[in-house]
Amino acid sequence: MDLFEAMETCRAVRYLKPEPVAEDLIEKLVHGATRASNPGNSQGWDFVVLRDRAVKERLGTILEERLTPSIRSMPKPTAVEQRMLDGAHHLVSHFADVPVWILVCGRLVYPPQAPSEAMLWSSVYPAAQNLILTARGLGLGSTFTTFHGAAEAEFRAELGIPNDVRLAVTIGIGWPERGFGPVRRKPVAEVLHWDRW
Ligand SMILES: Cc1cc2nc3c(=O)[nH]c(=O)nc-3n(C[C@H](O)[C@H](O)[C@H](O)COP(=O)(O)O)c2cc1C
Repeated sequence: MDLFEAMETCRAVRYLKPEPVAEDLIEKLVHGATRASNPGNSQGWDFVVLRDRAVKERLGTILEERLTPSIRSMPKPTAVEQRMLDGAHHLVSHFADVPVWILVCGRLVYPPQAPSEAMLWSSVYPAAQNLILTARGLGLGSTFTTFHGAAEAEFRAELGIPNDVRLAVTIGIGWPERGFGPVRRKPVAEVLHWDRW
């Protein structure tokens, strides 16, 4: 798929078919992620792939209980926001049905003499963006989430994630139930500053 078309249509896909995603495709996603730029090529990232139905059910039950009240109470001034929050609620309430969750994790490794949190997050986000673009290229839907933040201790315990590893993004992946649409973003003229602010 053309790179520019992928970027234009790489929307959060929150309605996913429960069909499994083949392991070689999951490896392609992680391969794409690990092609990303990162500070000093330190590659302080790790990827935990969650497919185990029993674990997804246990985590999903906790997430639904903790996240539903805040999703429901968020302001929804427009139909677009209403749809987005409905989609977020669908995703969290179908956590166990999402075929694959990939947790993008970061380690404090750069710069080696004084590892910094800022460098850690700067490593994992380009990798996560590469991952969702790779998914788009393969026809897979994905959504960045921070769902782990509502149950971090439980995620760590279930997945055996060491205490010094940070959880950055929890990305849901699967074959889209609906199509891919164009992303809606501000016009370039609103955010572009030529030569000075
Ligand atoms: C750091 C980050 C955290 C996000 N967290 C969530 C989330 O917890 N749940 C969710 O449904 N979407 C989440 N999203 C997806 C955004 O809501 C989505 O990208 C944004 O609304 C724009 O929609 P679009 O990507 O479909 O164009 C997150 C995106 C980013 C980059």
